[in-house]
Amino acid sequence: MQLEIENFTDQFQYFPGTRYMGSKNKIISNLWKHIGKLEFDSFFDAFAGSNVVSYFMKCQGKKVITNDFMSFSYITSKAIIENSTEQIDSKDIKFLLKKNKNNGFIQSTFQDIFYSAEENEFLDRVRRNISLLDNEYKIALALASLVRACVKKRSRGIFTFVGERYNDGRADMRKTIEEHFIESIQIFNKAVFYNDQQNKSKNKRSENITVKADLVYLDPPYFTPKSDNDYVRRYHFVEGLVKNWEGIEIQEHSIVKKFESYKSPFAKKETAYSAFDDLFKKHKDSIIAISYSSNSLPTKKELTEMLCKYKSKVEVYEINHTYSMGNQSHKIGNKNNRVKEYLFIGK
Ligand SMILES: C[S@@+](CC[C@H](N)C(=O)[O-])C[C@H]1O[C@@H](n2cnc3c(N)ncnc32)[C@H](O)[C@@H]1O
Repeated sequence: MQLEIENFTDQFQYFPGTRYMGSKNKIISNLWKHIGKLEFDSFFDAFAGSNVVSYFMKCQGKKVITNDFMSFSYITSKAIIENSTEQIDSKDIKFLLKKNKNNGFIQSTFQDIFYSAEENEFLDRVRRNISLLDNEYKIALALASLVRACVKKRSRGIFTFVGERYNDGRADMRKTIEEHFIESIQIFNKAVFYNDQQNKSKNKRSENITVKADLVYLDPPYFTPKSDNDYVRRYHFVEGLVKNWEGIEIQEHSIVKKFESYKSPFAKKETAYSAFDDLFKKHKDSIIAISYSSNSLPTKKELTEMLCKYKSKVEVYEINHTYSMGNQSHKIGNKNNRVKEYLFIGK
């Protein structure tokens, strides 16, 4: 059964948003003002992150292919971009909450780090039950819901510090993790729809993947000498949870029990330039759209010149955007923190 809806664009209100470093949620309509004028049927989101841009494009009826090297981003995409049929019903929920025998990995590894003993017991139990589901899209929906519950139940939604240093008593912190999980399932179920296309989710390094699409959207981590763009450091717990910590070596000496960050050429100055050049070359036959910010390297001028090597027409739009996350969160409201967001379009 495919979930038909009357108007794709109305469906965007059901995007399950959480805080995600670098998310374009707040500027999506500004991006669409420019991207919407271009002619394209297929859209490749090479650094999908929260998947908000891809979900928006799915709601515009485009054929969407997403990619991100973080597994928890990929699983979210699989749940609401690739999946157009499956939902989690009340029988599944009952099954997911069932008592079971599990290895107690989270309870023993993350004791007194992020969650209470009771919450860790819940996570071990549900994670085990998810692995017993026999449908890949139900698994993706359940995992994405569990990730959302973990992020909601965590102060600031990140995993870089022990305990609840920033617990401000907001409603999200007062709900139980189980309540968050069930609510998240309902939210994710509503986000599932069919847009007349076969959409696809991928989980590779963007430098190692070849996807053909009319429009390729590049929103890599922004390199700045000051800020932190390490997604694993921030989100290692939910990334490990999705992978069930399989193939992952926890750094036992780290107080938050994180693991080694994935290498990304975009995170370092020495490699960011050639990484961009390689991507532009690989996608030279598509329209290329890039989101980048004014405090990052390469600079606006450099990036424009690099894109001009492969594209005959390059336009740059400025979109004002104040970051509310990252190392500079204490400066919210400060004018110096007004980073300009650029949208480059190479045709
Ligand atoms: C700025 S965020 C993307 C935000 C996204 N457009 C949104 O609106 O939520 C950058 C993303 O690139 C991913 N990433 C970083 N290096 C990567 C690489 N080499 N290959 C694939 N994904 C990568 C990160 O995991 C992160 O999700």
